[in-house]
Amino acid sequence: MILLDEVTKRYGDTLAVDTLSMEVTDGEVCVLIGPSGCGKTTTLRMINRLVDPSSGRILIKGEDTRKSRPEVLRRTIGYAIQNVGLFPHMTVEQNIGIVPSILGWERTRITKRVHDLLGLVGLTPLTYAAKYPAQLSGGEAQRVGVARALAADPPILLMDEPFGAVDPLTRERLQQQFLAIQRELKKTVVLVTHDLDEAVRLADRVAVMRDGKLVQYDTPENLLANPSSSFVRNFVGVDRALKRMSRVPVKTLMKTTHSLRRLPSGLEGNVPPTQRFAWVTEEDGRLVGWVDAHSREDTMSVSEIDPEEMELITVMESASAREALSHMLGQGIKSIPVVDASRRLLGEVTLGDIEEATAD
Ligand SMILES: Nc1ncnc2c1ncn2[C@@H]1O[C@H](COP(=O)(O)OP(=O)(O)OP(=O)(O)O)[C@@H](O)[C@H]1O
Ligand SMILES: [Mg+2]
Repeated sequence: MILLDEVTKRYGDTLAVDTLSMEVTDGEVCVLIGPSGCGKTTTLRMINRLVDPSSGRILIKGEDTRKSRPEVLRRTIGYAIQNVGLFPHMTVEQNIGIVPSILGWERTRITKRVHDLLGLVGLTPLTYAAKYPAQLSGGEAQRVGVARALAADPPILLMDEPFGAVDPLTRERLQQQFLAIQRELKKTVVLVTHDLDEAVRLADRVAVMRDGKLVQYDTPENLLANPSSSFVRNFVGVDRALKRMSRVPVKTLMKTTHSLRRLPSGLEGNVPPTQRFAWVTEEDGRLVGWVDAHSREDTMSVSEIDPEEMELITVMESASAREALSHMLGQGIKSIPVVDASRRLLGEVTLGDIEEATAD
């Protein structure tokens, strides 16, 4: 656990951080967010003692950080900085391996670690290990930065806008990768961002800062549902409901649905009298399409879903309500089938279910 206790940082007349108190729980992702200049980077840098507080204290696992030498402290804290900060004259492999080599790890162990980490962040070692930072795209450099922060397997990770410099699509992919890595490694993470969607997506807890002060520290759900001040309300914006949906898993909204089975002998089952449509599956439960009970031609003819459209017309159980909604709006459908990885029908979610779940 990281504990900040009335921490203040002054630069001359500037109060960069003002009596900030907060706790970061082990294994959780805490996201710092707020306008430019509100003190986010300064807060991060005080945690690993790149900057020392003017007053107040910071405890890590109950130990006052002032009692550890900064370089010793930093071995237990990975740091991915704003604008990546890779060493230009070192290869990707050397950049990632720098902390382990300072720690005196054996060469073979370092090489293995670097290659494992490259794999973890989705970069093929064979292609990337020998490249120099100038030969990487912005997104690749950021992934190398994240790999470097993880290199010595530190329990704590500080990340300053780690996915800042990339296009929205790459950013989304990096965020997904980060969440997958975090589910496995369960680091204690303090991450800075400007992007509220990113905060809502990644955080267990969000700290909203303004002028060096903490104005709200809450779960993303609570932050969006109950902003504590007009500042936070304005900050989280008018589309709070939409953002909240990205925290609601389809799994929790899904209802079971009546479906018909397509057997060699024909369709098994009927569309219930209260319904107009019903989903149709193969014998093994894989979704095929639907039947329309009002169909003029043949009430039992199956409208098959084009395999290429299958992904747009269905959602996975692990998707968010926001994804489900965007599929529904994109396809003009009022209910969407929920499927597993083999496309087996698990249930469905309707527009009404989503509305209900996100109502204030
Ligand atoms: N080394 C320094 N010397 C003087 N002032 C500084 C120094 N570092 C930061 N500041 C000031 O402290 C305040 C907080 O800076 P900080 O870098 O923590 O902001 P930030 O929230 O990370 O902003 P951004 O979102 O733009 O990265 C700013 O007003 C900044 O000008
Ligand atoms: Mg900053």
